[in-house]
Amino acid sequence: MNSVCVIGLGYVGLPLALSFAMKGYKVFGVDSNEKLVEELKKGETHHLESYKGKTIQEILKEQLENENFIPTTDYRKALENVNDIIVTVPIPVYGGKPYFDYLVSCAEEISKNLRKNQLILLRSTVVPGTTRNIFLPILEENGLKCGEDFYLAYASERIAEGKAFEEFENMPTALAGFCENSVRRAVDLIKVICKEEIIVASSFEVVETAKVIENLQRDINIAMVNEFERFTKAMNLDIFEVIKVANTHKRVNLLYPGPGVGGFCIPNAFYYLDAKAQELGIELKISKTARMFNEGIPGYISDLVMKTIEKYKCSKKVAVLGIAMKDYSSDDRLSPAIEIIKILQARGVEVKAFDPAVKTEYDFKVSSLQETLKDVQLVLILAKQHGIEFEEIFEYIPPSEAIIIDTRNVFSYNDAKEKGFVLEKI
Ligand SMILES: NC(=O)c1ccc[n+]([C@@H]2O[C@H](COP(=O)([O-])OP(=O)(O)OC[C@H]3O[C@@H](n4cnc5c(N)ncnc54)[C@H](O)[C@@H]3O)[C@@H](O)[C@H]2O)c1
Repeated sequence: MNSVCVIGLGYVGLPLALSFAMKGYKVFGVDSNEKLVEELKKGETHHLESYKGKTIQEILKEQLENENFIPTTDYRKALENVNDIIVTVPIPVYGGKPYFDYLVSCAEEISKNLRKNQLILLRSTVVPGTTRNIFLPILEENGLKCGEDFYLAYASERIAEGKAFEEFENMPTALAGFCENSVRRAVDLIKVICKEEIIVASSFEVVETAKVIENLQRDINIAMVNEFERFTKAMNLDIFEVIKVANTHKRVNLLYPGPGVGGFCIPNAFYYLDAKAQELGIELKISKTARMFNEGIPGYISDLVMKTIEKYKCSKKVAVLGIAMKDYSSDDRLSPAIEIIKILQARGVEVKAFDPAVKTEYDFKVSSLQETLKDVQLVLILAKQHGIEFEEIFEYIPPSEAIIIDTRNVFSYNDAKEKGFVLEKI
């Protein structure tokens, strides 16, 4: 029976492991978080993925039952049973600096348990140069030589949360290997789950850098459209309509503005590239400006809330709908919504927030739409979610009293006119 080990069972690693399990692989999933592993063993996850009509919860339970998926914290048990090892542990950014400890301790554990002929495929998003300069030397620490005793490849991970299963299958995969054998082994492994083209690049660094700039171009695009929003607002135009029109040009692909940029990938991209750029003595002016601009959007949105409170003389109470880092996600890592709420609280605003998909506990989070909307006039929409019916706002606040600040283009100015509520859009 074919077997593989996936290390790091988060937003990428769990659906990746289950994708191999659904192809009949025996998959050992390793995570250092004991609580997470215990939950997974019971078939529990808060992820919002689905595949061919089945939820990730159903897939997880099926693959546990048929013993194709074995979650564990034990590297040794996992590594002695497989030929191929995939790594998806993160490099978070703290205080603007990439923090390598998770990846380093993962490499140390692999090195201790590495056996001849194994392939290690790194899929984490990394600072360019990490595979060769940080990961590889640790793997060789216990005497085995890359290219002779074991094989190493890097393949960037391009999935979007919420579309993971579909995108493992239908997104072209870029990879590079230490040697020809590493490439061959990695291509064979990726082919099990990916139906699309596999692009073999000339070095690890090409794929690592391509991945970081794929993310960074989204950061820059979002900064740009949020700047355009400030212009269109002053012109009394709806930015969403302007972009819709601009995007009918076949060579234009503008993203939409919003309350800021969150999640693990896009906000970190600048800091990954910048860490290497500083080493090389290169200044990333445009990327840095975009990042700083995006980091300032929560402040801009909270200013808009304060101005609205003042303009309509309403109480300093706000109902926030959606706190995930993007629409239809359970992920609140680096979510701009959380930052907006904290700024508002620091400015003396009472905030109640509702998001049925986000599992993290916060003092401002309540468990129903009704509770959020109780005794407020001002509603701030920061993310769309299944389970938030925005029309229901008017069951709790009469339209003639409601003031809605909409950052997600849920309502149009026509809706506001017809129903009689006040609408502030970004
Ligand atoms: N989330 C996405 O949509 C996405 C998309 C593309 C690429 N990526 C990249 O994929 C990687 C993983 O991202 P994620 O969102 O799945 O992160 P995550 O935080 O959801 O999951 C990472 C998991 O790794 C575990 N872990 C950390 N150190 C470990 C170690 N030494 N040994 C074993 N387990 C360890 C953590 O406990 C956690 O469960 C990152 O490099 C990220 O940049 C993420």
